[in-house]
Amino acid sequence: MQERAVEEKELFFKQWLRSPRSMGSVIPSSRALARAVAQETAWSPGRFVVELGGGTGAITRGLLEAGIAPDDLLVVELERHLYEYLRDTFPECRVVQGDATRLDEILERQGIRDVATVISGLPMVNMPKAFKKAVVEQAFRAVGDGGVVLQYSYSPVCPIPADELAVDARIARFVPWNVPPAFVWRYRRRRG
Ligand SMILES: C[S@@+](CC[C@H](N)C(=O)[O-])C[C@H]1O[C@@H](n2cnc3c(N)ncnc32)[C@H](O)[C@@H]1O
Repeated sequence: MQERAVEEKELFFKQWLRSPRSMGSVIPSSRALARAVAQETAWSPGRFVVELGGGTGAITRGLLEAGIAPDDLLVVELERHLYEYLRDTFPECRVVQGDATRLDEILERQGIRDVATVISGLPMVNMPKAFKKAVVEQAFRAVGDGGVVLQYSYSPVCPIPADELAVDARIARFVPWNVPPAFVWRYRRRRG
């Protein structure tokens, strides 16, 4: 357990040295943040939960511990080393190497049609607007009108341009036991 945590921190940090912008953090999320994200996740058996930016699996593990069936979990990770780690660590889940801005193509290739929640751990705050827009649009296309989109972030300022994207955003949870303290943002498509 302890060894695994150390290995994951090292892997995460090495990837941050290679690509700080796409990592957005130097260490993985805490168990407290993973639990908070899992508590906000809508899911029922047979419906998928999609996690964008799996990293070393801190949130993935929290989702599984919360009882989400591994068969119903799709984890998308851009970076090859992290993807390989996730694939080997969570063989019971679907793990794909891919770009979250192309989620529609990934879901099509996987034959996944029914998605209850999309969870993004992508570092949004310093990303270009076009990236944020693409991620949010793809996420809402995946979950449809009634679905839930979650984003965790270290910022109390909404990490996406919610008004421009016609999305209602609210802070669902604040997690002080994370480095740095984190917010779980919950989005819904604006009606009308
Ligand atoms: C802040 S880390 C979160 C990692 C992990 N979920 C956690 O909470 O510890 C962001 C992750 O998003 C991945 N990522 C960045 N851009 C991505 C993209 N366009 N598509 C998929 N994953 C991406 C990074 O490689 C990194 O693993």
